[in-house]
Amino acid sequence: MSAKSAEEQTRIPRSLAIIMDGNGRWARKRGLGRIKGHEHGITAVRESVEECARLGLEALTLYAFSEENWSRPKQEISLLMKLLERFLVEERPTLQKNNVRLVHAGRIERLAPKVRALLDESIAETATNTGMVLCLAISYGSRAELVDAMRAIARRVASGELQADDIEEKTISAHLYQPDLPDPDLLIRTADEMRLSNFLLWQISYTELYVTSVCWPDFRKEHLQEAFAAYAARVRKFGAVLP
Ligand code: IPE
Ligand code: IPE
Ligand code: MG
Repeated sequence: MSAKSAEEQTRIPRSLAIIMDGNGRWARKRGLGRIKGHEHGITAVRESVEECARLGLEALTLYAFSEENWSRPKQEISLLMKLLERFLVEERPTLQKNNVRLVHAGRIERLAPKVRALLDESIAETATNTGMVLCLAISYGSRAELVDAMRAIARRVASGELQADDIEEKTISAHLYQPDLPDPDLLIRTADEMRLSNFLLWQISYTELYVTSVCWPDFRKEHLQEAFAAYAARVRKFGAVLP
């Protein structure tokens, strides 16, 4: 049996979430249009997916487009959607090769029919893969997700199927967009921003946070390994006192 490499000996999160930020700043620093930053971000996505799958993570959730991002200029949104279409087609072999199952979180009905169709195709094509789950948060907002969950729960209470007093934390978790995904152990945000930007507010109650100054298009597996090393050094107490 071959010896594990140094990074494999560190404690790896079971579930990771990433706020992929700084594409615009990366492009501006190079005198390029913002879309070039988004384009280069694809390489970082591919490398992160492959490395996380190789290390045996159960789930990787990537924040690709927020509910609030719909307020960006029309041209940027349309280029981002084109890029997403390209990603969904061109990255299928990468997902298959790495046994990755694709799922989605967000208000899918806001997406154009073509993007939705490609997303559905990639989800269907990878549905039987048994390795890591890659969750793409697109048109995603955490408060919107909670509103959708509350509405679904309220409908069940109104129909008499559920009693109000029987609503537990796990009832709310069960009505989120991807109820089967484990809560993230680690959240990485790139480009130095210290905020959550409406991402996974319910799911990250006890998630370890890691912010790096690296802009997303420059994010590579060594940055992932740095984040995992920082995570491995954290003491997770979940409110208890350690013996
Ligand atoms: C992240 O990069 C990508 C998306 C939000 C779609 P930004 O586009 O937010 O880049 P900055 O924050 O302007 O540098
Ligand atoms: C968060 O980044 C959304 C994604 C990474 C998709 P933003 O760049 O949109 O967030 P703010 O505006 O800095 O909070
Ligand atoms: Mg940003």
